[in-house]
Amino acid sequence: MLLPYNKFTALLKLILYTPEKMLYRFVLMASRHGMDPEKCSGAHTSGSSGKERPDRCIGGGEDPSGFSEKTGGGPGLSTTRDYHRHVPVDLMRELTICESFAGPDSPYAVALESPSSYGAMVGDFLARNGLLRENAIICEAGGGYGSLMHGLLSSRGDSIARIYMIDLSRSLLQKQRLLLSAWRERITSIQADIHEIMGAFSGVDLFIINEVLGDLNTLTAVDPASIPREVRELVDAYDLDIPDRPFNFNIGAVKLVETLCRSGVPAFLSEHSCDPIIPESMPFLAKGLELDAYPREIRLYRHSEYTIRFSHLERVARAHGRRVSSGSLIDLVGLKPSRRLETIFLTRACDTDTHEIIFELLDHIREYRWLTIT
Ligand SMILES: C[S@@+](CC[C@H](N)C(=O)[O-])C[C@H]1O[C@@H](n2cnc3c(N)ncnc32)[C@H](O)[C@@H]1O
Repeated sequence: MLLPYNKFTALLKLILYTPEKMLYRFVLMASRHGMDPEKCSGAHTSGSSGKERPDRCIGGGEDPSGFSEKTGGGPGLSTTRDYHRHVPVDLMRELTICESFAGPDSPYAVALESPSSYGAMVGDFLARNGLLRENAIICEAGGGYGSLMHGLLSSRGDSIARIYMIDLSRSLLQKQRLLLSAWRERITSIQADIHEIMGAFSGVDLFIINEVLGDLNTLTAVDPASIPREVRELVDAYDLDIPDRPFNFNIGAVKLVETLCRSGVPAFLSEHSCDPIIPESMPFLAKGLELDAYPREIRLYRHSEYTIRFSHLERVARAHGRRVSSGSLIDLVGLKPSRRLETIFLTRACDTDTHEIIFELLDHIREYRWLTIT
């Protein structure tokens, strides 16, 4: 079935507000990009046969950004689309901050002022900052195992009326549904690509996009002397600074923020940054860090992610007249500041397992930032 693009939004709304328990699958933009959905993954609801159709677009599908995955002279496109659609994702290999603090009894919680789950901490943060209104309708894109949402619903479920979980990975959507089964009546799961679906969403009060931006499309080795038109337009429109040497550009994240800003809906985002903010109470964490760098590759199991240049995202949001606030994830989770942390970090004096865990956590979390757009 081909979906005419101009009918897509209406169809999406129709499906979103249909209280079915099954997962939905879409091939978005198919007709817009001249692809045949029947040859990709099918613009149909799943659950009837329970079987996936063979995906004939693997590797051969044109990326919606219009850039080729092959470098050959021009910039390359790093995309995790096929990885997330076809490989059963193991987030424990990625050490996400969210999973590191999956519960108050996680090993990393020893470093926290008040041990809690990451989702509960995000809930407190959202409430403190006026981002969580009563009977909120929330859309979380890229929810992984569902741990953030589990923590959020466990601590603030009374204020949340409805949840939309969007993910490219069918296996992760299933894991989320299992973990969130206590709230299943309130949850709609949608298998779709963030690059394509977010502009079609309306009627939500908050978007949550936690540790996902680095998975989105990145243009690699962009030559400043020959910048592709699509990047040039963004750089000029938002007055984005670029270096005078080849650089990587977070095109997926920049365009996502552009889309979120146009929606007018508040958003909470977090990710591994290349321009981190070091908390004033812990200046020692700046040791050996570049604080104003451009996106770098992080190689992970069968895919790569790129760190995010938050200053670009902030510029885009401000240009759209949105209010922007950003900080270190260390402040959001509330690490217990102490001489002990400083000593462990600076001397790497890890003579116990706890010291090793604290060192590892500090070394990792210090580059993570949150961003709110209101
Ligand atoms: C690194 S995991 C983070 C999971 C979770 N938010 C956390 O913090 O632990 C990235 C998540 O985003 C999803 N994802 C990645 N790229 C996506 C895309 N283009 N569209 C939709 N979901 C995507 C992955 O399947 C996964 O659930």
